[in-house]
Amino acid sequence: MGNKSELIILGIESSCDDTAAAIIRNDLILSNQVSGQAIHMAYGGVVPELASRAHQQNIIPVVDLAIKNAGISIDDISAVAFTRGPGLLGSLLVGTSFAKGFALARNIPLIEVNHLQGHVLAHFIREPSVDSKQPKFPFICLLVSGGNSQIILVRDYLDMEVIGQTIDDAAGEAFDKCAKVMGFPYPGGPLIDKFAQSGNPLAYKFSKPKIGGLDYSFSGLKTSFLYFIRDRIAENPNFIVDNKADICASLQETIIQVLMTKVVKAAKETGITTFAVAGGVSANSGLRSALIDLAKVHNWEMHIPPFKFTTDNAAMIAIAGYYKYLNGEFASHDMVPYSRVTMK
Ligand code: KG4
Repeated sequence: MGNKSELIILGIESSCDDTAAAIIRNDLILSNQVSGQAIHMAYGGVVPELASRAHQQNIIPVVDLAIKNAGISIDDISAVAFTRGPGLLGSLLVGTSFAKGFALARNIPLIEVNHLQGHVLAHFIREPSVDSKQPKFPFICLLVSGGNSQIILVRDYLDMEVIGQTIDDAAGEAFDKCAKVMGFPYPGGPLIDKFAQSGNPLAYKFSKPKIGGLDYSFSGLKTSFLYFIRDRIAENPNFIVDNKADICASLQETIIQVLMTKVVKAAKETGITTFAVAGGVSANSGLRSALIDLAKVHNWEMHIPPFKFTTDNAAMIAIAGYYKYLNGEFASHDMVPYSRVTMK
């Protein structure tokens, strides 16, 4: 293995409730391991203290598996890239400390990665025997996850600007919090997607935010949904069970319309016609088809990555690490993680 013209990067992701490690050779993925944390389901959301402890337990086995499945030796690794933030501080500390220790023990460079930049760069991961089409610069990326909703202008691999973002809840939070109101387990987004498929998206109307520019807001929708359910249950205690599919389809439709409106606005304002989507919510089947339809109507190029690269994963951290390595961007060992940050 390992010759001078190739870089082998170990990526580490531990920003929330997934402990993940991946190996890439240049931009080609060799392995991608993710260990989720089922413990949070019992609490209806991620419990930060439990997440940190689970990361501590999982990190070494997950990295070990990533190295084994990549078919490389630990000596082949050229650098270690890790998520510095944003995310849960205790969770980030586990990945950061592991990466520092690994870099120090192996005497290799350390590379810090912004989690959000990683989500965008997931579009550039190549897979063996898959002929994927990568977005050309400049493009606009809609990043929708449990913690973020942003519209990002991507000029180059490491040159990105957030041109719109949520001022309160993220789109994933809107899905999950409304799902909780209906009594669904965490995370409720995928369940709303599932039930929505047999429902009428026009059955109910929910309030949409009136917010300027390219920013989003989802907290008003969450509140109006809560009151809507409360009032309907007062009339019919079985309202949710009787109308589950229609409620889910209407709620999903509202979230999609809110997201789409600003994507169209961003296209108008920038003149850019290449689009990409990233983050866990981009797994939503309604959002995927809405984006594809929008692209057809406007003659845009739309890039939707495979599911495994849309949710939290370490391959996206490794690919970001690869481009940072090429750019000579290395981290010092005295740096600390950050819980909140926008893209630089
Ligand atoms: O990017 P991600 O894996 O991690 C975090 O940001 O934590 O995103 C997770 C979010 C959750 O809110 C989850 O409910 C949402 O993505 N999600 C979905 C779907 N799959 C995941 N939301 C709607 N429909 C889906 N199919």
